[in-house]
Amino acid sequence: MTAQTSKVVLSLDAKQVDSLKDGVNFKKNPRDGKCYIIYKSSGGFKACKNQCKHQGGVFIKDVEDLDSRTVKCTKHNWKLNISSMKYVNPPDSFQQDELEVEILDEGGMQLVELSPIDPWLTAPRKPLELQEGEVKITYLTHACMELQFGQKCFLFDPWLRGPAFARGWWLLHEPPADCLDRLCAADLIYISHLHSDHLSYPTLKALSERRPDVPIYVGDTSRPVFWYLEQSKVKLTNIKVTPFGVWQNVDESLRFMILMDGVHPEMDTCIIVDYKGHMILNTVDCTRPNGGRLPQNVDLMMSDFAGGASGFPMSFQGGKYSSSWKAEFIKNERKKLLNYKATLVKSLQPRIYCPFAGYFVEAHPSDKYIKKTNIKNSPEDLNALINKLAPDTKTWTPKPGAMLDLCLALKDPTSRIMGKTAYATVAQQTVTGTFHREGHFQRS
Ligand code: FES
Repeated sequence: MTAQTSKVVLSLDAKQVDSLKDGVNFKKNPRDGKCYIIYKSSGGFKACKNQCKHQGGVFIKDVEDLDSRTVKCTKHNWKLNISSMKYVNPPDSFQQDELEVEILDEGGMQLVELSPIDPWLTAPRKPLELQEGEVKITYLTHACMELQFGQKCFLFDPWLRGPAFARGWWLLHEPPADCLDRLCAADLIYISHLHSDHLSYPTLKALSERRPDVPIYVGDTSRPVFWYLEQSKVKLTNIKVTPFGVWQNVDESLRFMILMDGVHPEMDTCIIVDYKGHMILNTVDCTRPNGGRLPQNVDLMMSDFAGGASGFPMSFQGGKYSSSWKAEFIKNERKKLLNYKATLVKSLQPRIYCPFAGYFVEAHPSDKYIKKTNIKNSPEDLNALINKLAPDTKTWTPKPGAMLDLCLALKDPTSRIMGKTAYATVAQQTVTGTFHREGHFQRS
């Protein structure tokens, strides 16, 4: 097992330590330019990185704080009480990771970063050779994937019927005709978070009528995924709230681990599945999955790609919200998302990458304006960037019903862009139309 590591990130000599004032001090490491915050009180010292837990913003002194305990993020104004290392705005939210403070004999100081071992490295497994047909990944629609591992079937985020977010989102693709049979045949289901394009009560109602006891795994988030279950009247009897960062053994070959999102730990999660030492990482919608610490070189990674989920700023008018401002804003947000996803793939170097969980459309006639203006990334946009930045990673952009045979895909040295090759088959192509009876929508 890989051991915990430690690293000295900042050293101060005795004179510099003497010059620290009571309360908050900002310090920069002259060698690498990285910034730190040291809090001095009669009780000793506390220290942390000058990096906001939200989206990595930099803190400055909070001028409203007369006790010199609080700092304010320059990006979105979150506030952190350095004396307790708790974020006070938003209240009761996060705890800042502390650095160890070591006082040296001659009066100097070192700040030490301890890196615990990554939980997926506990009880490591050497990848065993896979047989053709042993691991089959089938894309159903939006964020719904069916993963067949030997005899076990694992299904992610089933949104297969009805719209999501009241009538705001509709499935862009018609799922395969047998999708409900597939759902009801699953051995286990993972639901990443409570948004209704992932936790779909109309879909779960259909499931509960046939398999109320199918195990459904969710992360142990502070906002429970199934908080609305009772009111929904959907009868599911085997919901397993699962601790973060701990392997869950399904059988001797299959295990999985749920991880929290770094930006929305109270509600969002992602998952690593390990079958015979082959890992699949699904970061779903996480803004910063597991705070950015993720396994490298997994066999398959999948994530969202589209952006435009909030619909902001399309429903704002007046002031700065002109059509051109909104168009520019949307363009920049899309670009930022593309760059972030592609950079993440570049750093993690999965062998295969699959963009998914972005196939929705604001199809209701009353949302015509939003549909027209809230333009999203296409999976092809993202794949093109990934092909440039991470040329060793293959990309797979499936249509509903498309199946990837992991054994064949990993063996094939010939094609970087998958979907045209023998191991990725499409069992059923999409159909065209407008609204379908069960709430699916297909762009004509
Ligand atoms: S990055 Fe700090 S508040 Fe958003």
